Amino acid sequence: MQIQLLSPREFEQFRGFIYRESGIRIADGKVSLLSNRIRRRLKACEVASFREYFRLLTSSKAGEELQYFLDAVTTNETFFFRTPAHFQWLTSSLVPEMSAAARSGQRDPSLRIWSAACASGAEAWSIAFCLDACRFQLRDWSISILGTDINETEICAARKGKYPARVIESLTDAQKRRYFAPVDNDMWQIRPRYRQMAEFALHNLMQPLNQPPFDCIFLCNVLIYFDAQSRQTVIDQLTRSLLPGGYLVTGPSEGVYGMLDSFQKVAPMVYRKPVASELPDPGDTCQGCKP
Ligand SMILES: C[S@@+](CC[C@H](N)C(=O)[O-])C[C@H]1O[C@@H](n2cnc3c(N)ncnc32)[C@H](O)[C@@H]1O
Repeated sequence: MQIQLLSPREFEQFRGFIYRESGIRIADGKVSLLSNRIRRRLKACEVASFREYFRLLTSSKAGEELQYFLDAVTTNETFFFRTPAHFQWLTSSLVPEMSAAARSGQRDPSLRIWSAACASGAEAWSIAFCLDACRFQLRDWSISILGTDINETEICAARKGKYPARVIESLTDAQKRRYFAPVDNDMWQIRPRYRQMAEFALHNLMQPLNQPPFDCIFLCNVLIYFDAQSRQTVIDQLTRSLLPGGYLVTGPSEGVYGMLDSFQKVAPMVYRKPVASELPDPGDTCQGCKP
């Protein structure tokens, strides 16, 4: 039997479930898209209807199927050097600022960057390429790049660093040769020199990340799929994971501008978290108190 579309009730059930699990708000009218994505899981699980699949997914027997389901319903498009201005800022502002601060003894020679919602890793690897280009300024530094995503298939692909030729076709020939080695079947793999620079982990942005705080977090092209409440939750989590004076780099459509009031905008889509001495004195903000 050919299963057609989710019924309006099933659509609501699945999109409510996706929202609770990931913060992603599937828009009204995306019935065909969601039906198509879920249909693949019905086939894999050999269940005959959306209703039966929903029952499996929400039962104690779901097991790994919950991860496969989230993998199937997320949108994972990504590119190397996706927003060129971000990488320009990284090499021409962030690295010189950090290295000057280390030279004057104001910070340790270490740099931690998180590519949050990295899909198959292009953003994290692009950061690695940039930091490698700054290796003389960062000589003997401890560098750490972490890429995370809710989609396990994407995280596995990011770890392998192996991409079909079409994924890297926007790079110049010189960039391709510098960063990738051709491997089997028209695939290209990140060269070992860069591969040791980044690590990848499964993580849901709606939850805290159990890691020491970062100097810089890239949060690009993901919150577009979230509603205001989930966006705020993610921003609160990420703010906790950012060092005072650290930077949040967002995509062009993240919709978080009003949620970063205490941050200073230092470049298009780049926001600096204040250090304690820059925060307003709580006593100054109490409207009801007399001086
Ligand atoms: C369109 S890709 C963006 C990838 C990359 N940041 C870029 O700008 O090219 C969005 C990614 O967000 C991930 N994602 C969606 N919801 C998430 C969540 N709650 N936690 C972590 N990652 C999530 C998806 O799995 C997907 O890989």
